[in-house]
Amino acid sequence: MTISSFAGDDVPVPAVIRQISAGHPVVPIWVNGDGGVTFRIEVPGLRQFAKWAPTGSPNSLTAERERLRWAADFAAVPHVLDYAETTDGTYLLTAELRGETAITDRWKSRPAQAVRAAGSGLRSLHDSLPVRTCPFDWSAATRLAAIPGRDGDQLPSVPPVDRLVVCQGDACVPNTLIEANGDFVGHVDLGNLGLADRWADLAVATWSTEWNYGPGWELPFLNAYGIAPDPKRTTYYRALWNLEHPV
Ligand SMILES: Nc1ncnc2c1ncn2[C@@H]1O[C@H](COP(=O)(O)OP(=O)(O)OP(=O)(O)O)[C@@H](O)[C@H]1O
Ligand SMILES: [Mg+2]
Repeated sequence: MTISSFAGDDVPVPAVIRQISAGHPVVPIWVNGDGGVTFRIEVPGLRQFAKWAPTGSPNSLTAERERLRWAADFAAVPHVLDYAETTDGTYLLTAELRGETAITDRWKSRPAQAVRAAGSGLRSLHDSLPVRTCPFDWSAATRLAAIPGRDGDQLPSVPPVDRLVVCQGDACVPNTLIEANGDFVGHVDLGNLGLADRWADLAVATWSTEWNYGPGWELPFLNAYGIAPDPKRTTYYRALWNLEHPV
Protein backbone atom coordinates (compact mmCIF):
# COMPACT_ATOMS: atom_id res chain seq x y z
CA MET A 1 0.00 0.00 0.00
CA THR A 2 1.33 3.44 -0.85
CA ILE A 3 2.10 5.58 2.18
CA SER A 4 0.96 9.19 2.26
CA SER A 5 1.72 11.74 4.97
CA PHE A 6 1.91 15.39 5.89
CA ALA A 7 4.77 17.05 4.02
CA GLY A 8 7.91 18.47 5.61
CA ASP A 9 9.05 22.02 4.80
CA ASP A 10 11.98 20.61 2.82
CA VAL A 11 9.83 19.25 -0.03
CA PRO A 12 11.06 20.97 -3.23
CA VAL A 13 8.57 23.19 -5.03
CA PRO A 14 8.39 22.43 -8.79
CA ALA A 15 9.16 25.40 -11.04
CA VAL A 16 5.64 25.56 -12.48
CA ILE A 17 4.05 25.65 -9.01
CA ARG A 18 6.39 28.47 -8.07
CA GLN A 19 5.33 30.22 -11.28
CA ILE A 20 1.56 29.95 -10.69
CA SER A 21 1.98 31.10 -7.09
CA ALA A 22 2.85 34.53 -8.52
CA GLY A 23 5.11 35.38 -5.59
CA HIS A 24 2.71 34.25 -2.84
CA PRO A 25 4.10 31.85 -0.21
CA VAL A 26 3.93 28.15 -1.15
CA VAL A 27 3.63 25.61 1.67
CA PRO A 28 4.07 21.85 1.09
CA ILE A 29 1.07 20.12 2.71
CA TRP A 30 0.96 16.46 1.74
CA VAL A 31 3.07 13.88 -0.06
CA ASN A 32 1.56 10.74 -1.50
CA GLY A 33 3.21 7.40 -2.16
CA ASP A 34 3.44 8.03 -5.90
CA GLY A 35 5.71 11.08 -5.75
CA GLY A 36 2.79 13.52 -5.84
CA VAL A 37 2.71 16.57 -3.59
CA THR A 38 -0.04 18.98 -2.57
CA PHE A 39 0.98 22.60 -1.93
CA ARG A 40 -1.00 25.40 -0.31
CA ILE A 41 -0.60 28.78 -1.98
CA GLU A 42 -1.22 31.63 0.41
CA VAL A 43 -3.10 34.05 -1.81
CA PRO A 44 -4.60 36.68 0.53
CA GLY A 45 -8.36 36.18 0.81
CA LEU A 46 -8.37 33.00 -1.29
CA ARG A 47 -6.01 30.24 -0.30
CA GLN A 48 -5.42 27.73 -3.05
CA PHE A 49 -4.24 24.14 -3.21
CA ALA A 50 -2.05 22.85 -6.04
CA LYS A 51 -1.84 19.11 -6.50
CA TRP A 52 1.30 18.11 -8.37
CA ALA A 53 1.80 14.74 -10.10
CA PRO A 54 5.25 14.26 -11.62
CA THR A 55 5.49 12.66 -15.05
CA GLY A 56 5.13 8.90 -14.68
CA SER A 57 2.94 9.12 -11.57
CA PRO A 58 -0.05 6.77 -11.82
CA ASN A 59 -2.45 9.38 -10.41
CA SER A 60 -4.56 11.02 -13.05
CA LEU A 61 -5.26 14.63 -12.22
CA THR A 62 -7.30 14.84 -15.43
CA ALA A 63 -9.76 12.33 -14.01
CA GLU A 64 -9.92 14.29 -10.78
CA ARG A 65 -10.52 17.58 -12.60
CA GLU A 66 -13.47 16.09 -14.53
CA ARG A 67 -15.01 14.58 -11.43
CA LEU A 68 -14.62 17.74 -9.34
CA ARG A 69 -16.36 19.75 -12.04
CA TRP A 70 -19.23 17.29 -12.22
CA ALA A 71 -19.67 16.88 -8.45
CA ALA A 72 -19.51 20.60 -7.69
CA ASP A 73 -23.20 21.04 -8.58
CA PHE A 74 -24.27 18.64 -5.84
CA ALA A 75 -21.74 18.52 -3.01
CA ALA A 76 -19.02 20.49 -1.22
CA VAL A 77 -15.88 19.71 -3.22
CA PRO A 78 -12.91 21.89 -4.20
CA HIS A 79 -13.62 24.37 -6.99
CA VAL A 80 -11.25 23.87 -9.95
CA LEU A 81 -9.25 27.00 -10.81
CA ASP A 82 -6.63 25.70 -13.21
CA TYR A 83 -5.05 22.59 -14.62
CA ALA A 84 -2.02 22.12 -16.88
CA GLU A 85 0.33 19.51 -18.20
CA THR A 86 4.03 20.41 -18.35
CA THR A 87 7.07 18.42 -19.41
CA ASP A 88 7.75 17.59 -15.73
CA GLY A 89 4.24 16.68 -14.67
CA THR A 90 0.69 17.93 -14.22
CA TYR A 91 -0.93 20.19 -11.67
CA LEU A 92 -4.48 20.78 -10.55
CA LEU A 93 -5.21 24.05 -8.77
CA THR A 94 -8.31 24.34 -6.57
CA ALA A 95 -9.76 26.90 -4.21
CA GLU A 96 -9.56 26.10 -0.52
CA LEU A 97 -12.43 24.22 0.97
CA ARG A 98 -12.62 25.55 4.54
CA GLY A 99 -11.96 23.22 7.43
CA GLU A 100 -9.06 20.88 8.06
CA THR A 101 -8.32 17.26 7.31
CA ALA A 102 -9.78 14.87 9.90
CA ILE A 103 -6.30 13.65 10.86
CA THR A 104 -4.76 16.80 12.31
CA ASP A 105 -3.61 16.54 15.95
CA ARG A 106 -6.84 18.27 16.99
CA TRP A 107 -8.99 15.51 15.45
CA LYS A 108 -6.70 12.64 16.37
CA SER A 109 -7.21 13.67 19.98
CA ARG A 110 -11.00 13.83 19.46
CA PRO A 111 -11.72 10.74 17.35
CA ALA A 112 -15.35 10.46 18.49
CA GLN A 113 -16.17 13.86 16.99
CA ALA A 114 -14.06 13.26 13.89
CA VAL A 115 -15.66 9.89 13.20
CA ARG A 116 -19.15 11.33 13.67
CA ALA A 117 -18.40 14.05 11.13
CA ALA A 118 -16.77 11.65 8.66
CA GLY A 119 -19.58 9.06 8.88
CA SER A 120 -22.40 11.53 8.51
CA GLY A 121 -20.42 13.38 5.84
CA LEU A 122 -20.03 10.27 3.72
CA ARG A 123 -23.74 9.59 4.08
CA SER A 124 -24.59 13.08 2.91
CA LEU A 125 -22.26 12.70 -0.09
CA HIS A 126 -23.91 9.41 -1.07
CA ASP A 127 -27.36 10.95 -0.64
CA SER A 128 -26.48 14.06 -2.67
CA LEU A 129 -24.71 12.84 -5.79
CA PRO A 130 -27.18 11.72 -8.48
CA VAL A 131 -26.79 8.12 -9.61
CA ARG A 132 -28.94 8.56 -12.72
CA THR A 133 -26.72 11.16 -14.36
CA CYS A 134 -23.29 10.18 -13.06
CA PRO A 135 -20.98 9.51 -16.03
CA PHE A 136 -18.24 7.80 -13.99
CA ASP A 137 -17.93 4.17 -13.00
CA TRP A 138 -16.08 2.66 -10.04
CA SER A 139 -17.73 -0.76 -9.99
CA ALA A 140 -15.84 -3.82 -8.80
CA ALA A 141 -15.87 -5.17 -12.38
CA THR A 142 -14.21 -2.05 -13.76
CA ARG A 143 -11.64 -1.99 -10.97
CA LEU A 144 -10.85 -5.69 -11.37
CA ALA A 145 -10.34 -5.22 -15.10
CA ALA A 146 -7.79 -2.49 -14.40
CA ILE A 147 -5.63 -4.62 -12.09
CA PRO A 148 -2.50 -5.83 -13.91
CA GLY A 149 -2.16 -9.57 -14.55
CA ARG A 150 -4.84 -11.89 -13.19
CA ASP A 151 -4.48 -10.88 -9.56
CA GLY A 152 -8.20 -10.21 -9.34
CA ASP A 153 -8.82 -13.94 -9.75
CA GLN A 154 -7.73 -14.38 -6.12
CA LEU A 155 -10.88 -12.67 -4.91
CA PRO A 156 -14.21 -14.38 -4.32
CA SER A 157 -17.04 -13.35 -6.64
CA VAL A 158 -18.27 -9.77 -6.25
CA PRO A 159 -21.02 -9.55 -3.60
CA PRO A 160 -24.40 -8.38 -4.91
CA VAL A 161 -24.78 -4.61 -4.76
CA ASP A 162 -26.39 -3.45 -1.52
CA ARG A 163 -27.10 0.08 -2.80
CA LEU A 164 -25.68 1.72 -5.89
CA VAL A 165 -24.45 5.24 -5.10
CA VAL A 166 -21.89 7.65 -6.46
CA CYS A 167 -18.91 6.69 -4.33
CA GLN A 168 -16.19 9.10 -3.20
CA GLY A 169 -13.57 6.61 -4.44
CA ASP A 170 -11.10 7.15 -1.58
CA ALA A 171 -13.28 7.92 1.41
CA CYS A 172 -10.50 7.64 3.97
CA VAL A 173 -10.51 10.12 6.83
CA PRO A 174 -7.55 12.19 5.54
CA ASN A 175 -9.74 13.12 2.57
CA THR A 176 -12.51 14.36 4.87
CA LEU A 177 -12.50 18.01 5.94
CA ILE A 178 -13.99 19.11 9.27
CA GLU A 179 -14.81 22.55 10.62
CA ALA A 180 -13.38 23.74 13.95
CA ASN A 181 -16.77 23.12 15.63
CA GLY A 182 -16.77 19.47 14.50
CA ASP A 183 -19.17 19.83 11.58
CA PHE A 184 -18.44 17.99 8.35
CA VAL A 185 -17.33 20.35 5.57
CA GLY A 186 -16.66 18.26 2.45
CA HIS A 187 -14.39 15.82 0.67
CA VAL A 188 -11.19 16.23 -1.34
CA ASP A 189 -9.31 13.73 -3.53
CA LEU A 190 -12.12 12.66 -5.86
CA GLY A 191 -10.07 11.19 -8.71
CA ASN A 192 -11.83 7.82 -8.43
CA LEU A 193 -15.35 9.08 -7.82
CA GLY A 194 -17.89 6.88 -9.58
CA LEU A 195 -20.86 4.55 -9.45
CA ALA A 196 -20.40 1.58 -7.11
CA ASP A 197 -21.91 -0.24 -4.17
CA ARG A 198 -21.80 2.05 -1.13
CA TRP A 199 -19.76 -0.66 0.65
CA ALA A 200 -16.85 0.08 -1.70
CA ASP A 201 -16.53 3.40 0.17
CA LEU A 202 -17.66 2.19 3.58
CA ALA A 203 -15.15 -0.66 3.72
CA VAL A 204 -12.19 1.69 3.22
CA ALA A 205 -13.61 4.59 5.22
CA THR A 206 -14.07 2.41 8.31
CA TRP A 207 -10.66 0.80 7.80
CA SER A 208 -9.04 4.22 7.69
CA THR A 209 -10.43 5.01 11.15
CA GLU A 210 -8.28 2.19 12.47
CA TRP A 211 -5.18 3.42 10.57
CA ASN A 212 -5.59 6.95 11.86
CA TYR A 213 -7.34 6.74 15.26
CA GLY A 214 -6.71 3.14 16.36
CA PRO A 215 -9.19 0.29 16.92
CA GLY A 216 -12.79 0.75 18.05
CA TRP A 217 -14.03 3.46 15.69
CA GLU A 218 -15.54 1.41 12.88
CA LEU A 219 -18.91 0.92 14.55
CA PRO A 220 -19.24 4.60 15.56
CA PHE A 221 -18.47 5.50 11.92
CA LEU A 222 -21.19 3.15 10.65
CA ASN A 223 -23.62 4.47 13.27
CA ALA A 224 -22.98 8.02 12.09
CA TYR A 225 -23.52 6.91 8.50
CA GLY A 226 -26.70 5.09 9.55
CA ILE A 227 -26.01 1.49 8.59
CA ALA A 228 -25.35 -1.87 10.26
CA PRO A 229 -22.02 -3.66 9.70
CA ASP A 230 -21.75 -5.90 6.65
CA PRO A 231 -18.66 -8.09 7.24
CA LYS A 232 -18.86 -9.89 3.89
CA ARG A 233 -18.93 -6.80 1.67
CA THR A 234 -16.41 -5.07 3.93
CA THR A 235 -13.95 -7.95 3.58
CA TYR A 236 -14.45 -8.08 -0.18
CA TYR A 237 -13.90 -4.37 -0.82
CA ARG A 238 -10.87 -4.21 1.49
CA ALA A 239 -9.30 -7.13 -0.39
CA LEU A 240 -9.99 -5.39 -3.70
CA TRP A 241 -8.42 -2.20 -2.32
CA ASN A 242 -5.32 -4.15 -1.27
CA LEU A 243 -4.93 -5.59 -4.75
CA GLU A 244 -5.03 -2.08 -6.20
CA HIS A 245 -2.55 -0.73 -3.64
CA PRO A 246 0.22 -3.34 -3.38
CA VAL A 247 2.85 -2.73 -0.70
N1 LIG B 1 -9.13 22.50 -2.11
C1 LIG B 1 -8.66 22.09 -0.94
N2 LIG B 1 -9.10 22.70 0.21
C2 LIG B 1 -8.61 22.33 1.41
N3 LIG B 1 -7.68 21.36 1.60
C3 LIG B 1 -7.21 20.73 0.50
C4 LIG B 1 -7.68 21.04 -0.81
N4 LIG B 1 -7.04 20.24 -1.69
C5 LIG B 1 -6.21 19.46 -0.96
N5 LIG B 1 -6.30 19.76 0.36
C6 LIG B 1 -5.50 19.19 1.46
O1 LIG B 1 -4.38 18.52 0.91
C7 LIG B 1 -4.39 17.15 1.31
C8 LIG B 1 -3.91 16.33 0.13
O2 LIG B 1 -4.84 16.43 -0.94
P1 LIG B 1 -5.33 15.10 -1.69
O3 LIG B 1 -5.88 14.16 -0.70
O4 LIG B 1 -6.22 15.50 -2.80
O5 LIG B 1 -3.92 14.56 -2.25
P2 LIG B 1 -3.49 13.08 -2.68
O6 LIG B 1 -2.03 13.13 -2.92
O7 LIG B 1 -4.35 12.62 -3.81
O8 LIG B 1 -3.84 12.21 -1.40
P3 LIG B 1 -3.59 10.63 -1.18
O9 LIG B 1 -2.35 10.49 -0.40
O10 LIG B 1 -4.82 10.27 -0.36
O11 LIG B 1 -3.59 9.98 -2.51
C9 LIG B 1 -5.81 16.84 1.76
O12 LIG B 1 -5.85 15.84 2.74
C10 LIG B 1 -6.26 18.18 2.31
O13 LIG B 1 -5.84 18.31 3.64
MG1 LIG C 1 -5.85 12.21 -0.24
